[in-house]
Parts: sequence; C-alpha cells; structure tokens
Amino acid sequence: KSFLQKLWKGNVSSKMLTPHLQKARREYLRANKLGVSFTGRHNAKKLSPQELLCELKKRAHVRTLDGKEPPFSNLGWEKYFPQTPLSLLYPRGLSSCAVVSSAGAILNSSLGAEIDAHDAVLRFNSAPTRNYERDVGNKTTMRIINSQILTNPIHHFTDSSLYKDIILVAWDPSPYYADLHMWYHKPDYNLFPPYERHRKMNPKQPFYILHPKFTWELWKIIQENSNEKIQPNPPSSGFIGILIMMSMCQKVHVYEYIPSYRQTDLCHYHEQYYDAACTLGAYHPLLYEKMLIQRINQGTEDSLLRMGKVTLPGFSSIQC
Ligand code: C5P
Repeated sequence: KSFLQKLWKGNVSSKMLTPHLQKARREYLRANKLGVSFTGRHNAKKLSPQELLCELKKRAHVRTLDGKEPPFSNLGWEKYFPQTPLSLLYPRGLSSCAVVSSAGAILNSSLGAEIDAHDAVLRFNSAPTRNYERDVGNKTTMRIINSQILTNPIHHFTDSSLYKDIILVAWDPSPYYADLHMWYHKPDYNLFPPYERHRKMNPKQPFYILHPKFTWELWKIIQENSNEKIQPNPPSSGFIGILIMMSMCQKVHVYEYIPSYRQTDLCHYHEQYYDAACTLGAYHPLLYEKMLIQRINQGTEDSLLRMGKVTLPGFSSIQC
C-alpha cells in the first residue's frame, strides 16, 4: 500500500517518511528548544472516535489573552484586547464552517463554490483568494496568523487587504511552561509591538492573541494519542484552526488538510515552492495531527480521497 493509502486509514508512522523528514523530526526532538517535558501518559488503549471527540471537547477550551494576567495587566494592556471573547463573538453559534488548508493539493480542486457556501470560512497566514477563487473560494471570515506575519515586512501586515475586515487570531510559540513573562520578553517573533499598534489603529476589528496554554494543551492531546514521540513544537496553524472552529460551529468541513489523491510536494497553492515537510511535517507534528483528525472524521472515504475533505462535528453537537 502506498503512503497515502495508509494515511487515509490513519496508519502511518515516522518510519514511512523520507530519510530527510525522519532526520528533521529526530533533530527537533533532540534540540527541544521550547523545553517540552511530557509528563502525561500515552493512552494505553486506543481511544474510539467518540472518546477522542469527548476528550477534545473536555480539554480543548479556546483561550486568548485578556490582559488580566501579568505581565499584560501590569502593562495596562487590558484595554487593547477585544472586550468580547472569541467564544462569544457568535453567541448563537455558527452552523456550518469551512477550514481551508493552504496545501498545493487544493489547486485544480474546483472546491471554491462549496467552500463559499459555508457560514464561515477560516484561512491561514498569507493564503490569498484572489486569482484562486475557483479552487479556494473568496469568502474569508477568520484568519489564523503566526507571529511571522505580523513581524516580517514581506507580509505588509499593516496595509495588505488580506488582514482587513475579518477576525484575526495570532499566535507565537512559547516555552512549554507558558510563563507569560518569559514569553513576553522572549517571543519567537516579537508580535506584541505590531499587535499593540494594530489595536490602536483598528480598535473595532476582532483581533486576538492565543494563550500559549491553549496551544500546549492541544499538543499534549496529540502526544497522548500518538504511538511515537511527536515533535516538541506547537501544532500547526491548521490544527489550531480546526479546534477553534469545532468550538464555534455545529459542523466543520476541512479541505486538503489530509491530502486527497491530488497530494503534491507543492507547499502552498499560491507559491512555487516544493517541500514535502509542508504536508507531512518537520517543525510541526503534522503527521500526528493529521492521524488524529482522520480518526474523528465523519465524512465518507470518497470525500476524503476526491476532495481532501474531512467532516467533523462541532463540540455543541456531541454528547459526552
Ligand atoms: O504553511 P501554513 O502554516 O501557512 O499553512 C496553513 C496550514 O495548512 C498549515 O498550518 C497546515 O495545517 C496546512 N497545510 C498542510 N499541507 C500543506 C500546507 C499547509 O496541511 N502542504
């Protein structure tokens, strides 16, 4: 069986990756730059899909900075964070949501119309819609952006229309012990000054920063439910986004996160850059994230193979 067929069944291990990707994983494990020490246990018994969903619902509570904890409280930052928590932006919930991965495999998918038909559409980082409407649609409700988007001038964060008139959720890798002081003084990329500037200029735009405790809680759930040691780095924006949408929507449809038969080494649909790590992971524990998501997929195998589509219940739709 091919690697892809095994991935569709959720049956892959790092040993099936290319030597280059295996080496990258081992080196991240060895370096352990963020000081991860996993004290939990690997689940001895493989959880059923329902048990896994309930575990996620119980533990994956979306949390954003609210300015009430130091150092932000001492800095007087409470006024910069949005008044309304992300979880209350849609008090009656969203019915059907789309999560659009940036994978090259979405090219020539003709998924655009289907994606735009959802009530809300989540995209990532600098992924454009213009000129790609047929394959990715053109509606954007929310974007998850990493700290490099705010800090690297090539993204033109302040001026680009990609980041206007939508909900923004930014994140940055923090040390595992998520001490907000340490993180504030030594973020991976210093997102705090551009965040403060953007909030002053656009106080009405819902713009959140994820609490590092949330991302590390997601990491722990992935580690507990994997057979191998996963990379000691935060989950990808894609995984974070899926979990945010599961907490806000009744149903979540994820496109080309788990690759369809169109799988390609083309990293992003909007860039001529080839690297299998984008799909299978080097820095992020992508392979393990994807196996976990495929275990809770409620869509058909045909939708997965043809559209790269996974269908998940929102947390409000499951009874535990
Ligand atoms: O690369 P970037 O993080 O901006 O892409 C957004 C998300 O799309 C990733 O975090 C990952 O979850 C997903 N992705 C993928 N395969 C790719 C590229 C992106 O699964 N080839």
